[in-house]
Amino acid sequence: MSTAPEWIMVGGEGPESYNQHSSYQRALLEAAKEKMKEAISSKLSLDLIYDRFSVADFGCASGPNTFVAVQNIIDAVEAKYHRETGQNLSDNIEFQVLFNDFTSNDFNTLFQALPRGRKYYSAGVPGSFFERVLPKQSFHIGVINYAFHFTSKIPKEITDRNSPSWNRDMHCTGFNQAVKKAYLDQYSADTKNLLDARAEELVPGGLMLILGSCLRDGIKMSETSKGIMMDFIGDSLNDLAQQGVIEQDKVDSFSTPLFLAEECELRQIIEENGKFTIEAFEDIIHLDGEFVVDPKNSALSSKASFGAFLTAHFGADAMSQVFELVEAKIREGVSRIMNAKPDMQYLIVLRKNC
Ligand SMILES: C[S@@+](CC[C@H](N)C(=O)[O-])C[C@H]1O[C@@H](n2cnc3c(N)ncnc32)[C@H](O)[C@@H]1O
Repeated sequence: MSTAPEWIMVGGEGPESYNQHSSYQRALLEAAKEKMKEAISSKLSLDLIYDRFSVADFGCASGPNTFVAVQNIIDAVEAKYHRETGQNLSDNIEFQVLFNDFTSNDFNTLFQALPRGRKYYSAGVPGSFFERVLPKQSFHIGVINYAFHFTSKIPKEITDRNSPSWNRDMHCTGFNQAVKKAYLDQYSADTKNLLDARAEELVPGGLMLILGSCLRDGIKMSETSKGIMMDFIGDSLNDLAQQGVIEQDKVDSFSTPLFLAEECELRQIIEENGKFTIEAFEDIIHLDGEFVVDPKNSALSSKASFGAFLTAHFGADAMSQVFELVEAKIREGVSRIMNAKPDMQYLIVLRKNC
């Protein structure tokens, strides 16, 4: 396997930062708020709410969405406690929030933006969520928003031009079954590690709320708007290689540590792991629908998410040129994006088996 540079978001609060271009990811948290509340109300045991209650966000980035995610959870725990005991939770319980991301994440921006008047203590937890990052039984509810589609490595055979499994594209389109299998094998192994680690760290009966995108069964990545956007990035890299700005060899061996599984694959990976019970696997209607096709904004949003990774491979100048080309390609390809097949936005509720 080749180890990929860490896939971090563009930090800071500037005009090209993830902080300013993450409303798409936030819309899912807003759309899922009631379902998160229902899940906590019905699946979390009241016995777990005493003294200190810990919430952990895995893949928190530099804000502000993580604050929405953890507040949704705290509000739901408070509502449950009040309804079932008639008492105000803040009189009896202290909340702690654990913010996890790679060490290279912009934690400074995150902590400077912590909401005023928040009713929780905060701590940063640096490290890859594919490994243990917290002590045993140290949190009660975990959340992952749009960070459940990463792999820890890029399968080596897909980056080798001479391999039958060579991935001609920059991501897994699904057309080449050998590439798809290599990605799925890596994703399954990584997700198993992630679930094993969280099962150790969660208290018995604790919950994981996982939100993100997956493919509907039988749909290929390249048929969705996200796949088309990734093709625009791949095509732009090829354009720059043809202009001699970057090396074609580097483009040919470039792939991303991203994999959108099909719904049935996600279920199978979680069930085979066996550490959690799937309490819900809900289709969430995203308030923003699919990508809102404003070419400038779409290009900026992609840049905020992909920019740091592309810079690590091709340098900052080439990365900027890529997204100028991407904006033009979106402008030309609006109808392709509008007619793409839908992917699925989900909320998965997992309860740790005792
Ligand atoms: C698309 S962002 C989502 C951020 C945030 N949860 C939100 O809702 O806006 C994905 C985040 O996952 C983080 N991430 C990816 N792989 C990770 C890993 N192995 N360990 C910890 N964080 C990771 C990235 O650094 C990035 O901040």
